[in-house]
Amino acid sequence: MEIIVVKNYEEMSKAGNEVIKNVVLENPQAILGLATGSTPIGIYKNMIADFKNGLVSYKTIKTVNLDEYIGLDASNEQSYVSFMSDVLFNHIDIDKSNTFLPNGKAEDPSVECDRYTSVLKTMPQDIQLLGLGSNGHIAFNEPMTAFETTTHVVDLTESTISDNARFFDSIEKVPTKAITMGIKNIMDAKKILIVASGENKADAIYQMVKGEVNINCPASILQNHENVTVIIDEAAASKL
Ligand code: F6R
Repeated sequence: MEIIVVKNYEEMSKAGNEVIKNVVLENPQAILGLATGSTPIGIYKNMIADFKNGLVSYKTIKTVNLDEYIGLDASNEQSYVSFMSDVLFNHIDIDKSNTFLPNGKAEDPSVECDRYTSVLKTMPQDIQLLGLGSNGHIAFNEPMTAFETTTHVVDLTESTISDNARFFDSIEKVPTKAITMGIKNIMDAKKILIVASGENKADAIYQMVKGEVNINCPASILQNHENVTVIIDEAAASKL
């Protein structure tokens, strides 16, 4: 693991954007694995700024996202498909037909999981961007998820539901299930970039970097991937 500690969220976002930009400049047909949540928003802002300044084009890249809630319409502003449009896709020159997320409204979610795993097989991520849950989750792979999992349906834990309630009018409106890439799908990415900011991530960062590789901290599996860059701010690094 390459660990880069920067001063704050703003610096983390700039450094994260540089890593992704280099992948796109090297390969304009790159497949980017993207994440939702609040941490990557600053990276997406930098990607948009670079596009607007003519420094990079996303016209021929493809994207695959980590996860989607079950039960929200694509038009629901809390669905991850609308989140991605709002924070990134609507502001760059990407062809939206090249952007892929699990379909949270599929009639049979388990069939949808198999479909998404097939999509990932044909489109292996050149780089996968990850945020980190305060309990060490990556995507919606909560503690105790087997490392061999591919795309699957998850019951969100109470801690994840309450972490995510800030995006909804009330905690009752937070969906309780989601479709998520499995840990195996994440580990199959050629390169992984994981970003974290703030003191509430410090324990999870410690377990991820210095703890045993163990399903109690799903992110600890990243120690076994040969090309991982960790970009964290000083607060998230404070327990290392
Ligand atoms: C997002 C995702 C989640 C988040 C994690 C951190 O697609 O799969 O694992 O990356 O919950 O969320 P934030 O960035 O909001 O702290």
